Amino acid sequence: MGFFSDSLNRISPSATMGVSAKARALAAQGKNIIILSQGEPDFDTPQNIKDAGIAAIQSGKTKYTDADGMPELKDAIVGKFKREHELEYKRSQITVGTGGKQVLFNGLMATINPGDEVVIPAPCWVSYADIVQLCGGKPVFAMCKMEDGYKLRPEVLDQAITPKTKWFMFNAPSNPTGAAYSKEELKALTDVLLKHPHVWVMTDDMYEHLLYDGHKFWTIAQVEPRLYERTLTVNGLSKAYCMTGWRIGYAGGPEPLIKAMGKLQSQSTSNPCSISQWAGVEALNGPQDFIPINNEKFKVRRDLVVSMLNQSNGIKCPKPEGAFYVYPSCEGTLGKTTASGKKINNDEDFVTALLEDEGVAAVHGAAFAMSPFFRISYALSNEDLEEACRRIQRFCGNLR
Ligand SMILES: Cc1ncc(COP(=O)(O)O)c(C=O)c1O
Repeated sequence: MGFFSDSLNRISPSATMGVSAKARALAAQGKNIIILSQGEPDFDTPQNIKDAGIAAIQSGKTKYTDADGMPELKDAIVGKFKREHELEYKRSQITVGTGGKQVLFNGLMATINPGDEVVIPAPCWVSYADIVQLCGGKPVFAMCKMEDGYKLRPEVLDQAITPKTKWFMFNAPSNPTGAAYSKEELKALTDVLLKHPHVWVMTDDMYEHLLYDGHKFWTIAQVEPRLYERTLTVNGLSKAYCMTGWRIGYAGGPEPLIKAMGKLQSQSTSNPCSISQWAGVEALNGPQDFIPINNEKFKVRRDLVVSMLNQSNGIKCPKPEGAFYVYPSCEGTLGKTTASGKKINNDEDFVTALLEDEGVAAVHGAAFAMSPFFRISYALSNEDLEEACRRIQRFCGNLR
């Protein structure tokens, strides 16, 4: 009420950022905290990409660029879509923003009218529902069960769609579950979408490169070219290229939508950082060989975490195909009391007590729209992960 806008009241602060900030504050007080709440690789940005950023500074490429990205980076993105997904986009069909988050935001802000519905498979990334609500839309969760590997069933998608549905927002490999889809599983979903021509598809492919055990990535417009005309394919450099701080995200899609998104950006942040854009050109056009090397390390960590969590009382942890998250159930701990006397009634109680008693920061499932679960990011050293899992085992073992 009063000074602040109504739209601000419709959203909450990002839970993942909130937990991580609380954990960092405890660490600053001298507590030994292991942060499993942060969604970013611990690996450094590859040297050739850093060098491209440094070269951009040295050569004075430090001025404004076109508001929605410079032509050199758009061409590198066109090349990436063609090379990796056989998707044909023209330069005019590409937009570049300050992180994937801004691109998703622009896509929704440019299209949502009050009352429009957005179908979001849940559990889902914390920001989707809040951005939809900020834009005046209504998030509609399509629930994905642990027994199904947290993958969306076609009939659940079909039931979630109404005449008011504007977008289907899709993300695989998924944050927070790591679930990834085979071509056949995606085709089953695109068959449903073909039946509903008024529904547009926003696919967030941010974790596309982070897949294990031989899984291959497919994106929606590639699996079903008939959806190309109503699909926004969103991606970014944060995760696979270890560039979270550089803030480069991008999308390919139909020209009128891309133009509308660029118009919004021209009146808000203007261009993404010019230095980051030049680093982005190198990321997309340069060597990609560090990606499988990093993935090997992530896979070892995933296996370690899944195995140790499944040896914790009351925890069940499925093994995901991709990303760097696991999404275990803590249902078996509900109703119990910690060694320090705290009652665990829900997943928020579980992560709060875990942080306070054992110094391990994880994010509660309610933040991702499905309880009673919690999310762990395993983008940390094996030693830290082992220690964190030992603490979780001790915490769960002491519950009464
Ligand atoms: C599913 C998903 N999409 C988008 C983003 C945004 O990434 P960025 O804005 O860093 O490019 C994230 C980051 O955590 C994410 O997990």
